[in-house]
Amino acid sequence: MRVNYFCTNANNYDMQKVIITGGTGYIGSHTVVEFQNAGFEVVTIDNLSNSIIEVLDGIKKITGKRPIFYQTDVSEQKNLETVFQEHSSAVAVIHFAAYKAVGESVKEPLKYYHNNIQGLVNILSNMLKYDIPNLVFSSSCTVYGQPEKLPVTEETPVVKPESPYGNTKKINEEIIVDTINSSDNLNAISLRYFNPIGAHTSAHIGELPLGVPDNLLPYITQTAIGLRQELSVFGDDYNTPDGTAIRDYINVCDLAKAHVFAVKRLLNKTSRYETFNIGTGKGSSVMEIIKAFEISTGQKLNYKIVNRRAGDIEQVWADTSKANKVLGWKAEVSLNETVKSAWEWQKRVQES
Ligand code: WQD
Repeated sequence: MRVNYFCTNANNYDMQKVIITGGTGYIGSHTVVEFQNAGFEVVTIDNLSNSIIEVLDGIKKITGKRPIFYQTDVSEQKNLETVFQEHSSAVAVIHFAAYKAVGESVKEPLKYYHNNIQGLVNILSNMLKYDIPNLVFSSSCTVYGQPEKLPVTEETPVVKPESPYGNTKKINEEIIVDTINSSDNLNAISLRYFNPIGAHTSAHIGELPLGVPDNLLPYITQTAIGLRQELSVFGDDYNTPDGTAIRDYINVCDLAKAHVFAVKRLLNKTSRYETFNIGTGKGSSVMEIIKAFEISTGQKLNYKIVNRRAGDIEQVWADTSKANKVLGWKAEVSLNETVKSAWEWQKRVQES
């Protein structure tokens, strides 16, 4: 039986157009789905350095529509400009395309500064040149480092993040503000993500780490399905209730929806620049994630406790009241449903 994933509450954005960079990536692909469900026409750009083009087929299976796609690198201005020339009627750009592996950024900082910074500079230059007035930027809670006070609000001081990856997010937010201050026709929202996890309920799209996963949940699902021997839990000697580190794990579809709320706010021309924490408002430890996975999937997980991972912070979770009140957005999917969706996706990947 074909389940109809079309969104019943599609608002009539009468095919207003958005450009989504990094649209075949994990968060990008889920965001393409939500914009199509909301009635937007989606143009997406990706260089396929960390994703596969078949993701577009998964999107089509969910929404019935394959987004317009350009295989282009945002750090290469010439090819990028072609997209903006052809789609200058877009009302907003949602910018995901960036490298995001914390550990790799420590080993190869220049690769990260070139790609992540030059990419944004090219996006902004084209937006100004072709009069596309609204930007939603994919930022990260990593800009807060290890906060002194929890939960984290948008006023929590931004510090020099632990990694070059995190520093590119901090610098990019500053570039956006400076560019807005220099122009009359640019408005932006930075969404500071906490930890995105899970997959679309259809299991047609999900997280697809190429190589050994850095992040916790794909490592868990790959261990459970037998691709990995066992999960290493990085430290149980933190100053937390069960000794393992705490994060705010947010369902990727909830996170994707936050971008639609952000574009709606920008279209209402209410402000020039705002930042929003996009999390659940609740912290979960590594052991709690393992338990939630075992309970919701019935799969026993092989794991061992090892030393802490360099660069990891102890605990962080969001105060999401600003996003709740100002954007009108709230995380809705439970942790158990979310880890189960990651497992359903892992099994689908295994079958294909
Ligand atoms: C979560 C927790 C690990 C793997 C980073 C970036 C953030 C965002 C998400 C891009 C930590 C523990 C992990 C494992 C483990 N990046 N862990 N064993 O480091 O919180 O955030 O990725 O969007 O900006 O900073 O995420 O999933 O790597 O780790 O014990 O095999 O799980 O120590 O406590 P992190 P993570």
